[in-house]
Amino acid sequence: MRAIVQEHYGSTDALRIRDVEQPETAHDEVLVRVRAAGVDRGVWHLMTGRPYPVRLAGYGLRAPKNPVPGMDLAGVVEATGKDVTGFRPGDEVFGVGTGAFAEYARAPQDTLAPKPSNLTFEQAGVVATSGTAALQALRDHGQVEPGQSVLVIGASGGVGTFAVQLAKAGGAEVTAVCSASKVDLVRSLGADRIMDYEREDFADGRRHYDVILDIGGNSSLSRLRRALAPKGRLVIAGGETGGRWLGGTDRQIRARVLSPFVSQTLTTFISRANHDDLMILKRMIEDGKVTPIVDRTYPLSEVPKAIRYLEEGHARGKIAIAA
Ligand SMILES: NC(=O)c1ccc[n+]([C@@H]2O[C@H](COP(=O)([O-])OP(=O)(O)OC[C@H]3O[C@@H](n4cnc5c(N)ncnc54)[C@H](OP(=O)(O)O)[C@@H]3O)[C@@H](O)[C@H]2O)c1
Repeated sequence: MRAIVQEHYGSTDALRIRDVEQPETAHDEVLVRVRAAGVDRGVWHLMTGRPYPVRLAGYGLRAPKNPVPGMDLAGVVEATGKDVTGFRPGDEVFGVGTGAFAEYARAPQDTLAPKPSNLTFEQAGVVATSGTAALQALRDHGQVEPGQSVLVIGASGGVGTFAVQLAKAGGAEVTAVCSASKVDLVRSLGADRIMDYEREDFADGRRHYDVILDIGGNSSLSRLRRALAPKGRLVIAGGETGGRWLGGTDRQIRARVLSPFVSQTLTTFISRANHDDLMILKRMIEDGKVTPIVDRTYPLSEVPKAIRYLEEGHARGKIAIAA
């Protein structure tokens, strides 16, 4: 099968398109004929091996343990391991697997769900990681309730476009921060108020939010806290600095350390895709409450170009790969 292969950590120059063996699946895994895959920051971290703790987290010390990159996918079940009960060959699925930038990928049954019936494969292929991150950030860590005010910083990107829609669907009043060129997009997602970060300061003291979800821009903790209600919850999803050792996570660590000493809750998280949350996203998508936003779609041979576009940090929603 054709696949993108990476034999060492590095830039997109480390990626090659090759013919390789189809992956072998474990008993609880599904072999998926990939129709589309999603590109996100996790892919970039595993390609570069940065920040370095990624390598210690089991992804390979000197080189990627899985030479075929790509995690988010949508496609058709080709075969199932003997312990797989929820899927059969021919089923259309979406979720998270291993080696999604290829014609076939393997995925545990626990990180797959039936594809939303109203989505194309390209739309479905970009949902899992960013959709799950937005859902878990708002529900589990932000504990957002109907009527609360929620500030989403980085509202126009991969996670942000899901977060705005999910927060609105949960009954929150949403203020979204993005660049001027994305205002129309973010308004179309249902945001109640929009701030262009080049012209307005969300921390000018005029408004205080019950929940702040910080996904982009790397604002300092003191600025974020200034915009947060006295008992509010700050959830830091991420923010890239390119640093080799911490890659922007130092803010997250400081937030956790400070939280017990202040009235606000300052937290962070690492999202985990799972079947139940994918089913929640599927239902919300089929009910028309959430629509994945696909900015660009690249063919498999152009994965390096797709990742370079992601690296620029200004995609309108998600980037897809059509296999
Ligand atoms: N914790 C987790 O489990 C988890 C899961 C997924 C992702 N993440 C992390 O979350 C971060 C974002 O991921 P993503 O996939 O959404 O990335 P993305 O698609 O590249 O989006 C980043 C967003 O940041 C915005 N931005 C840039 N400068 C800004 C500023 N000064 N103020 C406000 N917004 C600004 C960009 O908006 P404009 O284009 O409008 O400038 C863009 O929408 C990454 O660091 C990623 O690693 C964490």
